[in-house]
Amino acid sequence: MVRIAAVGDLHMQEISAGMIKPALNRVNEEADMLILTGDLTQHGRLGEAAVLLRELSTVDVPIVAVLGNHDFHDGNEGNFAMLLAGYGVIILDGGAIELSINGLTVGLTGTKGFGGGFGMRTIPDFGEQIFKNMYREASFEAAKIGEGLESLETDFKVVVLHYSPVRETLQGEPLEIYPFLGTSILAEPIDRYGADLVIHGHAHHGSEISRTAGGIPVRNVAMPLLGRPYRIYHLAVPTSAPEIYAPRR
Ligand SMILES: [Fe+2]
Ligand SMILES: [Fe+2]
Repeated sequence: MVRIAAVGDLHMQEISAGMIKPALNRVNEEADMLILTGDLTQHGRLGEAAVLLRELSTVDVPIVAVLGNHDFHDGNEGNFAMLLAGYGVIILDGGAIELSINGLTVGLTGTKGFGGGFGMRTIPDFGEQIFKNMYREASFEAAKIGEGLESLETDFKVVVLHYSPVRETLQGEPLEIYPFLGTSILAEPIDRYGADLVIHGHAHHGSEISRTAGGIPVRNVAMPLLGRPYRIYHLAVPTSAPEIYAPRR
């Protein structure tokens, strides 16, 4: 069994120092890895990243993260990601990594993702250039997930996003902002190549549990939604098919 601790939307600022460090102390006993689904900081400032690193300093299990839109705000996301990576945080922006845990291999791919809406109302590749750019940005992000999943031959595959690939985990948010919270475009490669679990954040007032159209479990782990420092998910040893156990409450 593999135990995954996951949380997003920490939105760390200088004034946040010490707020979650005590709660994160227990991650080492409760989980085999910690996944952070973006909006690690409020503005993507290096000072905020330093606060985050101090909060994470007692976490000994691997930390895997994607950036969120807030982490891009200052336009310094490259240096921001390099700072975190320098302290051992595995930042996913496409590509894939493999972790060996309890004799099992877990492959992770991830990226920030993007918005664009859902189903029949998904943004089309049409009209003004700026709208076509939005469609292409979402497609570009989705392609990263497809390439990552296609490359993995692990016992389990986990996708990490900031934006949501399904509309159901947005329930609770105003309908008007759904297109800014995710897009079905991100779900296409997940259903095409398969995965065992998709974890995202960004929708602070959304819902935790859903599935893609292809039946792959999706979990929204935005911390304001969880109301706790992280959620633990279990990936069970495959029998006839991999099973995701219900999250511990
Ligand atoms: Fe957020
Ligand atoms: Fe966000």
